[in-house]
Amino acid sequence: MTNASKLSKIEVRGLEARFYDFLLLYGTFGLYQSLLKRVIMDMEIKTGDKILDMGAGTGKNACMIRKYVGDEGFILGLDIGEIMLKKFNRKCKKYENIKSENQRIDEPLAYKNEFDKVFISFVIHGFTQENRIKIVENAHKSLKPGGKFFIFDWAEFDIKSSGSILKFFMYHVECPLALDFIKQDFKAILKKQGFCNIQENLYAGKKIRLLSGEKT
Ligand SMILES: C[S@@+](CC[C@H](N)C(=O)[O-])C[C@H]1O[C@@H](n2cnc3c(N)ncnc32)[C@H](O)[C@@H]1O
Repeated sequence: MTNASKLSKIEVRGLEARFYDFLLLYGTFGLYQSLLKRVIMDMEIKTGDKILDMGAGTGKNACMIRKYVGDEGFILGLDIGEIMLKKFNRKCKKYENIKSENQRIDEPLAYKNEFDKVFISFVIHGFTQENRIKIVENAHKSLKPGGKFFIFDWAEFDIKSSGSILKFFMYHVECPLALDFIKQDFKAILKKQGFCNIQENLYAGKKIRLLSGEKT
């Protein structure tokens, strides 16, 4: 195991995977669920949109997005967690236009100019900077020209001047690579990787954001 994979806790397995939605719902007192609803609304998804969900988890997000894309749209969820993929398929089986693939998002993807939107929710912070860039490149290549990449994750902030609960969470609960992620200038990174019209919506005292960029 490399140092980077030791630091990464983003591959959700075992009991955490089995009870992932439950832990997230009750561990955040329902706040994550309502924030996610707002974020998906803020993505301005249109009927018929084709959406790629990177690190799609249990399929909860895909089912919420399905309300917006309707019958004409399509959602593809990528994940590598065996339990997460099983949950995804079980949750989404009633929808013919939601599919999943067992596919690493930090390795080259086969899609080119195919999706209207690429969404990545609380996944990218768990990778090394080198692999985060590979994920951004994958998103860019997968999008149609004019398509949008949405990163829902920690915002850029100074942990030293944050409150003690957040400090405890970031140092002792969250993936260690998240402390590096919050220092990175992702607006500049998106620009460098060929995105324009960079925008951010800030939530939770500006500690969480939906960052987006458009493929030129
Ligand atoms: C913290 S969970 C987030 C799940 C979901 N996006 C959400 O918002 O609830 C991270 C997810 O990324 C997946 N994952 C981790 N590494 C991955 C990789 N290299 N390629 C694809 N998926 C990955 C995990 O299996 C897990 O389902």
